[in-house]
Amino acid sequence: MAIQGWITSVLVAGLVAVSGDALAQTVWTVPEVGALPRDGHGERVRLGRDLITATYSLIGPNVGEPARRYAGNNLACTNCHLSAGTRKFALPLFGLYGLFPQYSARSGSEISIEDRLNSCMTRSMNGRPLPSDAPEMRALVAYIEFLSTGVPPGERLPGLGAGKMPELTRAADPSRGKPVYESKCLACHNTDGSGLRRGGQGSTLGYMVPPLWGSDSFNDGAGLARLINFANFVHFNMPHGADYLDPQLSVEEAWDVAAFVLSQPRPRRAGLANDFPDKLLKPVDAAYGPYADGFSEQQHKYGPFAPIRAEIERLKQERR
Ligand code: HEC
Ligand code: HEC
Repeated sequence: MAIQGWITSVLVAGLVAVSGDALAQTVWTVPEVGALPRDGHGERVRLGRDLITATYSLIGPNVGEPARRYAGNNLACTNCHLSAGTRKFALPLFGLYGLFPQYSARSGSEISIEDRLNSCMTRSMNGRPLPSDAPEMRALVAYIEFLSTGVPPGERLPGLGAGKMPELTRAADPSRGKPVYESKCLACHNTDGSGLRRGGQGSTLGYMVPPLWGSDSFNDGAGLARLINFANFVHFNMPHGADYLDPQLSVEEAWDVAAFVLSQPRPRRAGLANDFPDKLLKPVDAAYGPYADGFSEQQHKYGPFAPIRAEIERLKQERR
């Protein structure tokens, strides 16, 4: 917890590069999948890693066997959980195993690692949940457990999530983000945000560069559909090759390009109003109502967030 707080304050101060060496000492090392024996467990972990890096070819919408079509888009988990879930501040999947089961404000209940994974299946992958006993689920869980090798249960490793840069005091602005998209993203992610496929429509080869909006992207209930997640992910990881030690976009560019991308159309998820049964626990940047506070959907989507946070704090005090 102390380490986490320290990292956050260092990041907020913008001293990311300075913290690098110090961070490296506290971080645990990524275990090597290739070094596992080729026994049942070793094969399961390997399959889990393949499901993360080539999701589209194993459980994507175009695979031959209809029963195996769990994902609704042709993304791979690794498109967001970079380097197969092993990169700091690129939504890593390491060190998570011992943190579950945990309370989820979104569902209003305790959730297992399987539940958490399925929330990416139904939102980020715009698909349907994997049954607990499906071989694919067992493999994904085995891989995530493997990535927690040596991490004491309950310990939060530094580097989880997508980082935390300072917020703007104004709303993030799609019209300022458009030129940023055109100069810094379009060459890879395409003029219409549709990315670059490896094969034609209907192939199981996925993307060289994944789409950022449109029918084959994550849906509006996904974690990246929230501005704070998206802007931080992009600041610390994009253009591809950037990392948290050496961000390429300014803080302002990252917020505005996030606003531009999230103002574009994407698949809609039904029933989002039921998320976060306790509305006071709803993240300030959830772009869909209802809310406990009086702020508009527009302000929840683009900010500024500080006034919303203050009002939620006040309402929480009032409830005590
Ligand atoms: C479009 C981007 C995207 C894709 C694709 C995606 N995820 Fe995620 N995932 C996220 C984001 C963003 C979060 C964090 C959400 C939050 O904290 O609100 C997350 C969180 C998670 C977590 C919990 C991490 C934690 O720190 O507690 C797990 C486990 C997970 N994803 C597994 C998967 C798996 C397995 C797949 C592929 C089947 C997948 N995700 C695909 C964006 C994605
Ligand atoms: C050099 C090519 C390149 C550039 C430039 C680039 N990206 Fe990406 N982007 C990628 C690739 C490749 C991935 C998938 C990463 C992986 O699988 O390792 C990705 C993944 C993403 C993702 C997560 C996956 C998804 O589909 O949502 C987001 C969000 C994203 N990029 C946003 C941006 C934004 C915004 C910019 C401009 C500031 C940008 N990228 C610039 C190549 C690029």
